Amino acid sequence: MKLTSIKVLLGFIILVVLGGLGVAWSGLYNIAATDKHWGITSEFLEIVRERSISANAEKIKVPDLSDKARIKRGAANYDAMCAQCHLAPGMKTSELHEGLYPQPPVLYKELDMSKEEPHELHWIIKNGIKLTGMPAWGNYNSDEQIWDMIATIGAMKDMTEEEYKALVAAGEHTHAMGGHENMGMDHHTNDQQEKTSDHHAAEEGQSSHHNAEEEKSGKQESAPHSHGGKDHHH
Ligand code: HEC
Repeated sequence: MKLTSIKVLLGFIILVVLGGLGVAWSGLYNIAATDKHWGITSEFLEIVRERSISANAEKIKVPDLSDKARIKRGAANYDAMCAQCHLAPGMKTSELHEGLYPQPPVLYKELDMSKEEPHELHWIIKNGIKLTGMPAWGNYNSDEQIWDMIATIGAMKDMTEEEYKALVAAGEHTHAMGGHENMGMDHHTNDQQEKTSDHHAAEEGQSSHHNAEEEKSGKQESAPHSHGGKDHHH
C-alpha cells in the first residue's frame, strides 16, 4: 500500500471513531429499554450471544434432567428466583416480564428441551447475560441447584397451575440467599420491592444467611430497608 492511501485510510478510521464518540457524547442514542434495537443490531447481538455462550459452555457435563427428585428440588427455587421474570404455569404476566427489554422469555413454553443444549442453559443461568435483565445466579447457587431448576423448567411444559403450585409447595428453597419465605409466594402481585430489600438484607448478613432467626431479628439495624420495616404481610 502507498503511503497516501494509508493516510487516507487512517483519516477515515479516525473520522468514524470520532463520529461514534460524537453520537455517544451528544446523548442522541436512546438507551431506553422501550426503544427497540434496529434489526441489524439485534441480529448482531444474537450472534455475539450465541457464539459466546456456546464457546463458554462446552465443557459442562449434563446430568439426568428427567429425574423426578431433581424436578421437585428445583421448583421452589425457580418459583422464588425466576418466575417473576420468566413466568410459570398459571401466571399470565408480571411487571418485570413486561418491563424488561430484551423481554425475558417464558422459558417453560418457549424452550424446547429436546432441541436445547442444556449445558448452554446452565452456563447462562450461572453467569447471566450482560446488558439484559438476566442476572448471574452462580454466586449463591451450586451447579447442582442450577441443574435442578433446568429440570423443573423442562417438566413445567405439561404442568397445570395446580400441579406447579403443589410442586413448589412440596419442595424447599435450598439456595443460599436468606429471606426467601416470602419470595414468589403470590404470583399475581408485584413484590419486586420486597425481593430487592430481601436481597440486601441477605447480602449484608452473609455469615448468618442460614440462620432464619437471625435473618428476621438481626437485620433491622444493619438493613433499615429490610422487609421487617415494610407494612405488607405475607
Ligand atoms: C430480572 C429478570 C430475570 C430473572 C429474575 C431471571 N431471568 Fe433469565 N433472563 C432474563 C432475560 C431478560 C433474558 C433474555 C436475555 C436475552 O434476550 O439475551 C433471560 C434469559 C434466560 C435464559 C436463556 C433463554 C434462551 O432462550 O436461551 C435462561 C435459560 C434463563 N434466563 C433462566 C433463568 C433462571 C433459571 C432464572 C432463575 C434462577 C432466571 N432466568 C431469572 C431475565 C431474568
